[in-house]
Amino acid sequence: MKIVVLAGGTSTERDISIVTSYRVCESLRRNGHDANMLDVFLGLEDSKVADFFTEKNDLGELSDNLKDKTPGIAAEVERRDKARESFFGPNVIELCKEADIVFMGLHGSNGEDGKVQATFDLMGIRYTGTDYLSSAISMSKELAKKVLVPEGIPMPKGLTLHKGHKAEYVPFPCVVKPCCGGSSVGVSIAHNEKEFEAALADAFSYEDTVLVEEYIDGREFSVAVLDGKALPVIEIEPLEGFYDYKNKYKAGSTKETCPADIPDDVASQMQFWAEKCCQSAGVTTYARVDELLDRNGNIFCLEINTLPGMTDTSLIPQEAAAVGISYDELTQTIIDISLAKYN
Ligand SMILES: Nc1ncnc2c1ncn2[C@@H]1O[C@H](COP(=O)(O)OP(=O)(O)O)[C@@H](O)[C@H]1O
Ligand SMILES: [Mg+2]
Repeated sequence: MKIVVLAGGTSTERDISIVTSYRVCESLRRNGHDANMLDVFLGLEDSKVADFFTEKNDLGELSDNLKDKTPGIAAEVERRDKARESFFGPNVIELCKEADIVFMGLHGSNGEDGKVQATFDLMGIRYTGTDYLSSAISMSKELAKKVLVPEGIPMPKGLTLHKGHKAEYVPFPCVVKPCCGGSSVGVSIAHNEKEFEAALADAFSYEDTVLVEEYIDGREFSVAVLDGKALPVIEIEPLEGFYDYKNKYKAGSTKETCPADIPDDVASQMQFWAEKCCQSAGVTTYARVDELLDRNGNIFCLEINTLPGMTDTSLIPQEAAAVGISYDELTQTIIDISLAKYN
């Protein structure tokens, strides 16, 4: 099959997306596909379009190249906004239309939030992963709570703050996070008023809407859901601090155990909630639900990641491996489930 692995973009998780896409693209090539990586925002120059699917270019070199362009992205976003130019880079739509399917290697805004999915639906472009609406619901931690809590899903209590509005009363410790971010960018734990002010300033530097939640003291887990069925639970234990950006992506900074060392009934409950989160939000294909277990044995669901990372240190490949699904089988399964939705 001809496959575009859509990478990069303009979100705070641009660089992680490039790593995810690199790994996925290598895997798809090993599986015999004509796959290549394409930056959704930067696109491709005309002279390279004809050979895009057949050329076995060096993906490591391409990834480095795309990461080198990251510092210049913000200025280019501003320029295109002013000039009312498309978010999609040169030749992106053309190549995606030519592909049998687009593998969504994007993370974060303009990729995981449903906008690209909605655009592709209207253009007849096929893509991996869940649809635009479930993506949008899951991306907004505020909206996700409004959908999931009435379904009985346990989530930390909290409130939403809009820029310029003050919180009336906040019990400490609390967690402050941007409403639609990812990879823990802008997330902090505040123990007092001073830390809270700093946490708000940081979170508001990313977005105009911020969530303040009760801090759940306990253990952290994640549960992938593949085609509606939960995979084994993985436990995440950062050696220092919480599961922040550094601990997510710096190899060796976090201990991960899969299957998690917890009683079977607790694991089953976590898997139940992960599946229920996906059903309730309409999330199909594959996703990963972050969960916490407090000291009294209560489970809390934090969020649904609709385009979970597929890097070397990512969680979903480890969970798949625990049931004998190799990385290459996982990428193929994602393609197969995604294509089946179109039939
Ligand atoms: N209510 C909470 N209590 C304790 N820790 C939390 C809470 N919310 C978030 N965290 C910590 O912050 C991390 C990132 O939060 P999460 O809601 O998953 O957002 P992101 O989209 O950035 O991954 C979690 O993995 C967890 O370590
Ligand atoms: Mg998370």
